[in-house]
Amino acid sequence: MKAWGIGVAILAGLLVSCSRTPAPAAPALLVSHVANRTPSPEIELGLRLFFDPKLSADGSISCATCHQPGRGFSNGAAVGTGIGGKKGNRSVPTIYAAGHDGPQFWDGRAATLEAQALMPIANPDEMGAKLPEVVAKLNKDPLYTQLFQAVYGGPATAQRLGKAIATFERALKANQSPFDRFQAGDQSAMNDSQKRGWEVFQDRGRCIECHKGSDLSDTNFHNIGVGTDTDTVDVGRMAVTKLQSDWASFKTPTLRNIAKTAPYMHDGSQATLNDVVKFYNRGGLFNPNIDPKMKPIHLGADEQEDLLAFLGALTSPDNLKDLAPSPSGRPTSPPRR
Ligand code: HEC
Ligand code: HEC
Repeated sequence: MKAWGIGVAILAGLLVSCSRTPAPAAPALLVSHVANRTPSPEIELGLRLFFDPKLSADGSISCATCHQPGRGFSNGAAVGTGIGGKKGNRSVPTIYAAGHDGPQFWDGRAATLEAQALMPIANPDEMGAKLPEVVAKLNKDPLYTQLFQAVYGGPATAQRLGKAIATFERALKANQSPFDRFQAGDQSAMNDSQKRGWEVFQDRGRCIECHKGSDLSDTNFHNIGVGTDTDTVDVGRMAVTKLQSDWASFKTPTLRNIAKTAPYMHDGSQATLNDVVKFYNRGGLFNPNIDPKMKPIHLGADEQEDLLAFLGALTSPDNLKDLAPSPSGRPTSPPRR
């Protein structure tokens, strides 16, 4: 576990700069120091696509409309709002840990990140577009034609579109938090309360039984009870596997940058981290399919406070905020280095 933080790359930020070459090249993107990857034209293309509302039916919604860099790549609301103001039925997860390549979505219905990337484009409640039309649009755009040619040696295809976006998402890492520095051996990186909270997380709280590994997720599915007391229970993983044992089970989310992505849970039903900790303290919400790992943990007030402090130590410096899309939908250009 000590090794988690060791060898992590320096996330110096994403730099987006304007090209010095004249037209027809619209601003060329320069992404540097994305995790430990060298800037790559494929990551740059994926970044451009991620922020481009052209991927939606009416040009109004990009991936970043819901996955906002300044909000931990979530949207600060209980559910996502897509084309024509349509509301979805689940909360917007961060994409920081999407690169760990388990099944995607709260219910894991997409097997890969590449496959996932095409789904919101065609989802009538999200970007509402038709994939072949989006691909045709990209192939009519001189800049995209040039970029796809440079990266893949040919025109845009659905498969290349998914691959470029997935490659950009994999390059995003939130691995410079106080917790990472602590794991790498810097004892001063977390304060005493955060250190005690890390103990609670592993020991009395048993959070680590599900929130484990470098992204604090086992990428597995569990029923912890969220929403099981409503009339319209979201069956979660069961819709994919058809197994009764997966009823109301959801993917363990990453806890990276968790302080930034309120409200919480697949339905956005927990407003604050304090509410989440109280929920776990009670043993989640009892129901016939609850995960056997869920038991009341009876943390005292001090332990709860320490646990909250620890969750705050999972926030990485926000060097992605400059990527907030400009009104035109293009990434804004921070100053060049
Ligand atoms: C209208 C809001 C909205 C838009 C637009 C949107 N998403 Fe999402 N995204 C969501 C919601 C809500 C979920 C969770 C849905 C579910 O699990 O059923 C999600 C889930 C994901 C996940 C899975 C993360 C995980 O941990 O399982 C990834 C990756 C992702 N989106 C990437 C994208 C990409 C790439 C685009 C653009 C092509 C995009 N999203 C557009 C709202 C949106
Ligand atoms: C049995 C496995 C399990 C255990 C143990 C567990 N979690 Fe979770 N955690 C999950 C699952 C699954 C979800 C998503 C549930 C849902 O939305 O229905 C979740 C959601 C969360 C969320 C909300 C994340 C988000 O993006 O909305 C936080 C915060 C969290 N857990 C923290 C903790 C803490 C702190 C502990 C220990 C006190 C803990 N968890 C113990 C499985 C677990």
